[in-house]
Amino acid sequence: MQIQRDVDLQSCNTLAVPSRAEFFCSVTTIDDLREALSWVQKRQLPLHLLGGGSNVVLDPEIPGLMVRMDIRGREVVSQAHDHVVVRIGAGENWHQLVEWALSNGFYGLENLALIPGTVGAAPVQNIGAYGVEVSRFIERVDGVTISEGEEISLRAEECEFAYRDSVFKNRLRSRFVITAVVLRLSRRFQAHTSYPALQDVLGEGPVTAERIFNAVCQVRRSKLPDPETIPNCGSFFKNPIVPWDLYEALAERYPGMPSYDASSNIGPARKLAAAWLIDQAGWKGKAVHGIKIHQHQALVLTNPSRLPADVVLDVASMIQMEVKAKFGVLLEMEPQRIGS
Ligand code: EPU
Repeated sequence: MQIQRDVDLQSCNTLAVPSRAEFFCSVTTIDDLREALSWVQKRQLPLHLLGGGSNVVLDPEIPGLMVRMDIRGREVVSQAHDHVVVRIGAGENWHQLVEWALSNGFYGLENLALIPGTVGAAPVQNIGAYGVEVSRFIERVDGVTISEGEEISLRAEECEFAYRDSVFKNRLRSRFVITAVVLRLSRRFQAHTSYPALQDVLGEGPVTAERIFNAVCQVRRSKLPDPETIPNCGSFFKNPIVPWDLYEALAERYPGMPSYDASSNIGPARKLAAAWLIDQAGWKGKAVHGIKIHQHQALVLTNPSRLPADVVLDVASMIQMEVKAKFGVLLEMEPQRIGS
C-alpha cells in the first residue's frame, strides 16, 4: 500500500468538484486497510473513506488521509434450491454485481440496475430504486473497526436500515469501515413491478428478470444524466417524510401532489416527492451560478462546469429555502459531505 501526498480527487467524484486530499491511498486487502488505519492513528490525522465517489460532495481541501476502498471479490458462500448467499468485496462495482447476479440466475437485484457506486457504499445509504431497497437482500455486513482494526460483522437487524439511512451513516460513522457485503439472493424470480414508470416501459408480455433489468436501465437512462458526461451525484435531496396534518393540508391545496405511505410505529406519516416540490417551485431545467437542475428530473443537480462544492451547496440551499417557503417542507441533503 502506497500513501501519496496532495492528490487530485476531481476524477474520483462524479459531481466533478475540484478537491485535493492531503494524503491518499487505495486499499485492496484488509491488511492494507489496517495499515492505513494505524498510519492515521500514529499521526492523529482525520480519516475519510471513498467508494465510487457517486454520493459525495467533497470540500476543496481534504485534510488527513482519503482511503479508497478497492477490496474486490465475488464469492458464492452457500447455495440451496431456492436461494444463494454471496459475499461481495466492498470495492466491487454495484452495476457489475447486478449483471453478474442476473447472468448466474441469482434474482432480486434487477430493479437496482445502473445505480452508480460500489458495493460497500450500498448499505450506507441503503440504495433503493423502483420499489426495491438493498436492505431487503442484506444478510450481513463485514468490516473493520477504526479504533482497533478488529474484524466484525453486523447482522441485517443491527444495521438500522431505513429509507436512505443506516447505522453506518449515524452511530458507526467514523467508527467502522465496510469491507464486504453478504447478500441472500433468490433462485426463483419474483417480479417487483409496482413502480408506475417501470410498468409503462414494461408494457404487455411475460415479465422476466432480464426484461425488468432492461426496463430499469431504459427508465434511468431517459431520466437521469450519465455522470460520465454530465457531472452529478444522483438525487441531491431525500424524499421528505412529513407528519400527517402537513400532508393533508398540502394535498388539499395541491390535489395532484404525489405521495407515498410512510407510517411507522411513531405514527401516521407520508413521504412526498422532493422532485415534484422542486419542480413546482420552478427549478426544473433552471441554471443558477453554473449549476443546472436536470431537465428530466428536478432532484438531480448537475455541475457541467465542474465548479467547487460551495457553489453547488449555495444553489442547494436556495432550493431548500424556496421549497420551505412554498410548502413548509424542509429538504434534507442526500449525498454525504466530506472534508468539513
Ligand atoms: N416528479 C416531478 N418532477 C420531476 C421528477 C419527478 O414532478 O422533475 C414527480 C414524478 O412524476 C413522480 C415523483 O415526482 O410522481 C417521483 O419521481 P420519480 O419516480 O422519478 O422518483 P423520485 O422519488 O424522484 C427516487 C429516488 C431515485 C430513484 C427513483 C426511482 C430518492 C431520493 N430518489 O426518486 O434515486 O432512482 O426514486 O425509484 O429516493 C438516487 O438516490 O440518486 C436516485 C436517483
